[in-house]
Amino acid sequence: MLKDFISVRQLDEGSFYFIYELYKEFRDRYKAGETKLSDLKGYSVLLPFFESSTRTRTSFELAGKILGADTINISGSSSSVKKGETLYDTIKTLEAMQSDFIVLRHYMSGAAHIVAKHVKSRIINAGDGSHEHPSQAVLDAITILEKKGKINGLKIAIIGDILHSRVARSQIHLFHMLGANITICGPRTMLPRHLEQFEVNFVTTNINEALKEKDVAIFLRIQLERQKKVFFSTLNEYSIKYGLNRDRVNLLKDDAIIMHPGPVNRGVEIQSELVYGNRSVILDQVENGLFTRMAIYKFLLNQ
Ligand code: CP
Repeated sequence: MLKDFISVRQLDEGSFYFIYELYKEFRDRYKAGETKLSDLKGYSVLLPFFESSTRTRTSFELAGKILGADTINISGSSSSVKKGETLYDTIKTLEAMQSDFIVLRHYMSGAAHIVAKHVKSRIINAGDGSHEHPSQAVLDAITILEKKGKINGLKIAIIGDILHSRVARSQIHLFHMLGANITICGPRTMLPRHLEQFEVNFVTTNINEALKEKDVAIFLRIQLERQKKVFFSTLNEYSIKYGLNRDRVNLLKDDAIIMHPGPVNRGVEIQSELVYGNRSVILDQVENGLFTRMAIYKFLLNQ
């Protein structure tokens, strides 16, 4: 039984495609006007976020509300953590309030895993340090499926701050499991040390090599907040060496898509006019995130 959703490693191909079926059902019903459902009626969803978020928090909250749950946001900066309460005591307190789901974002890698062991509430990992962001990887895989019709055999490049990216860690495992051929690319200082542990087909520091003939190009945010030392000289230099510009778009396949989990550092990872350009599916990722998160709640309830 899957009580919590902490890592993409908890999914096999069958459970991913089951979530995809739930996603399609919720999306179609919502678009047909069924905007108030009752799958989570009587359930409570608490959302303690100890790092800032726009997409993940809003979509998990909205997804819960559409499904009929009572949802409550808890911001780390206004919680009793500020008075010295530990994460463990905070989560035990939320459990005592009969929370059915706790959607947790925390700056510490492993935070969701640790608290899940100590509470009966179902924990959903909404991003833990540099470790994982599983719901993002699922919505990204679904976006690729929707746009390309398959993932198996696709050539996917993931570019940027791989070292600090929880999104990349979740994406790499999930996309590999679904049969993609994965290239990762970034400055040497932003590539993880033990690359043999990553399920990737090719590693390069040369973005032009990384983008050549790819079906999907995923750009990652430079995570300045996680960088304790200097990984590149200036944002301008990073943008020149690793940013997406018009010439680089032409290296991709003609029908390639451009993705970014957001938030985007405009003009750094992607040139400003390309952010919502005709190849970009960034806003599709956001929209799909809502229905994916509805599907994740339902998937956990079915377990
Ligand atoms: N992609 C993502 O996690 O965005 P937020 O930080 O806005 O939730």
